[in-house]
Amino acid sequence: MQKEIDMLDVLKIREDFPILKREVNGKPLVYFDNAATSQTPQVVIDAIVDYYSNYNANIHRGVHTLSQEATDAYEIARKKVQEHFNAKLTHEIILTSGTTHSINIIATGFTNLLSKGDEIIVSALEHHSNIVPWQMLCERSGAILKVIPMNQEGELVMDVYDQLLSDKTKLVFTNHISNALGTINPIEEIIEKAHAVGAAVLIDGAQSCPHIKPDVQSLDVDFYVASAHKLCGPTGVGMLYGKEEWLNKIPPYQGGGEMIEQVTFEKTTYAGLPHKFEAGTPNICGGIAFGAALDYMNTIGFDAIATYENQLLEYGTQKLLEIDGLKIYGTSKNKTSVISFNLENIHPYDVGTIVDKLGIAVRTGHHCAQPIMDFYKIPGTIRASFSFYNTKEEIDALVEAVKKAKMMLS
Ligand code: ALA
Repeated sequence: MQKEIDMLDVLKIREDFPILKREVNGKPLVYFDNAATSQTPQVVIDAIVDYYSNYNANIHRGVHTLSQEATDAYEIARKKVQEHFNAKLTHEIILTSGTTHSINIIATGFTNLLSKGDEIIVSALEHHSNIVPWQMLCERSGAILKVIPMNQEGELVMDVYDQLLSDKTKLVFTNHISNALGTINPIEEIIEKAHAVGAAVLIDGAQSCPHIKPDVQSLDVDFYVASAHKLCGPTGVGMLYGKEEWLNKIPPYQGGGEMIEQVTFEKTTYAGLPHKFEAGTPNICGGIAFGAALDYMNTIGFDAIATYENQLLEYGTQKLLEIDGLKIYGTSKNKTSVISFNLENIHPYDVGTIVDKLGIAVRTGHHCAQPIMDFYKIPGTIRASFSFYNTKEEIDALVEAVKKAKMMLS
């Protein structure tokens, strides 16, 4: 049986987020742009302030106390990421600047592992960051990009995926959850079928990480990538999980300090994992705060988060559909708390601007997923994405604001 909507004690949780107390345009902020970035709880802000106030230093470089403290905190954060995603080995976790960086490490790294005529498969539901790097990889390697199509509900057409797979397929890339529509993709099936033809799989977890706790070992996925700022952490830091054997095969992405074993002018040898992929001074504070964000989210618990957000999704869907002329894009039964919609004959930007005047933050536009908008033949959508700190009352405010926008723009 589903627990009650107040199971999370949302009002208490909201106290953890200083920004939720502010007003926008004289109205209480209603923050429904969580798929773009989540808000930051005080414990994560405290971790950032503590780092810069007490032990700001470069890591892996000094014998002095501050450097050792910072190094220890950074490596503890890496361990937290490992535990959260259930990677077998700590060095299978590379700390990056975010999902885009993580994808580019793999896309660049595969350049010499592919041959002309090899095939790589992406899904029609991808964010540009999981399309463009693979197109660039195809240009460099001569590989061919194939696309798993989508249907009107915003789901992948898996029969076509079956037909696309062959012994030419070397890589398959898909997001776990679509940022534009909220569809949860059948990644278990995608991974299993790709492995059956010998292809490696990368899952973009940027949108799943705030809602689901993935287990990379039981998924048997080759690469899984995510960003801290989607799950209550800071921007500019993220993760790349890769199976050890793959990360050993892939060359470094960038050259620089920290990623070397020995440098001479004749030849450089590279450091082992994870440092081989971590050239230069990393986002030390960001990494530590990423760990604090995972602690925070795990204290609330991902099962409770998913149950509560599903209730917000159901409530929001039902309430918004009561508005005449409102159409929701992405109607899969298997979706997360993202509602992408339009009002008939009204541009999404106009609606977004009016609801902002009423203190409500939604994203409008193509959501960095132009192929999805092309599929629906629309310029973009209004996207409300709910988090565990949102409430039904806030959804009511959105519904009233959309009604008002409709009245003003019709
Ligand atoms: N990818 C982020 C979004 O969907 C920025 O809004």
